[in-house]
Amino acid sequence: MIEHVALHLEFRLKVLVLGGDGFCGWPCAVNLADQGHDVLVVDNLSRRKIDIDLEVESLTPISSIGDRLKAWKDIGGKPMSFHLLDIAKEYDRLLNLIKSEKPDAVVHFAEQRAAPYSMKTSATKRYTVDNNVNGTHNLLTAIVESGLDIHIVHLGTMGVYGYGSHRGATIPEGYLKVEVPQPDGSRFEEEILHPASPGSVYHMTKTLDQLLFLYYNKNDQVRITDLHQGIV
Ligand SMILES: NC(=O)c1ccc[n+]([C@@H]2O[C@H](COP(=O)([O-])OP(=O)(O)OC[C@H]3O[C@@H](n4cnc5c(N)ncnc54)[C@H](O)[C@@H]3O)[C@@H](O)[C@H]2O)c1
Repeated sequence: MIEHVALHLEFRLKVLVLGGDGFCGWPCAVNLADQGHDVLVVDNLSRRKIDIDLEVESLTPISSIGDRLKAWKDIGGKPMSFHLLDIAKEYDRLLNLIKSEKPDAVVHFAEQRAAPYSMKTSATKRYTVDNNVNGTHNLLTAIVESGLDIHIVHLGTMGVYGYGSHRGATIPEGYLKVEVPQPDGSRFEEEILHPASPGSVYHMTKTLDQLLFLYYNKNDQVRITDLHQGIV
């Protein structure tokens, strides 16, 4: 038991969970807090607003973020703070939060997550691109501007590879080795991101995310883990 506690304290991190009111974000936040980490939940509650606009409800009731935080505290969970913030629109607030809290890591779930919604109308296409790409880019520039060494963990999607376009071939982990033929007949070897083949505007935003990550890692050495996740 003592060893267990010591291990927790040794690895205690401060973590911002962006999109922490969401389907994946809330359990992730609770799990991190349960392991003894300091957790700050950031969300603009847009998923709840979209559900109201679409006149749909979850099959299982979802308590308000206030009730969730209180219930977590009432059962003895390590308290988490909540920040109502739109990461795609409120750059200065995001930057100030990062500068003042100095997190060790950011888990980034804060995007419009539905492919069908992203394809519904020109308005939902534009919203999905504006929200997802701006949000990710704001996070990257805020980390660079803060000057802090913060590791980003992002939940992308296996849909960046396209569905069915590889005819059963094994997709390597993230990068592909290619040989580029030169005019003089020689070839040079390069590692590139595996070619993307998005099937919806939502998936396209995740392919843009991975380019932003590649660039900011190359140019500013931001540390990023981009998980190309299947359906949770
Ligand atoms: N659930 C899955 O099966 C799955 C699979 C692969 C990838 N992902 C990705 O994981 C992430 C989380 O998915 P989810 O299923 O939990 O979705 P979700 O909609 O339940 O959670 C996303 C949360 O982010 C918030 N958000 C959106 N835009 C924001 C912004 N600009 N500023 C602040 N908060 C914002 C929403 O209000 C919501 O609470 C998404 O990026 C999604 O694309 C999910």
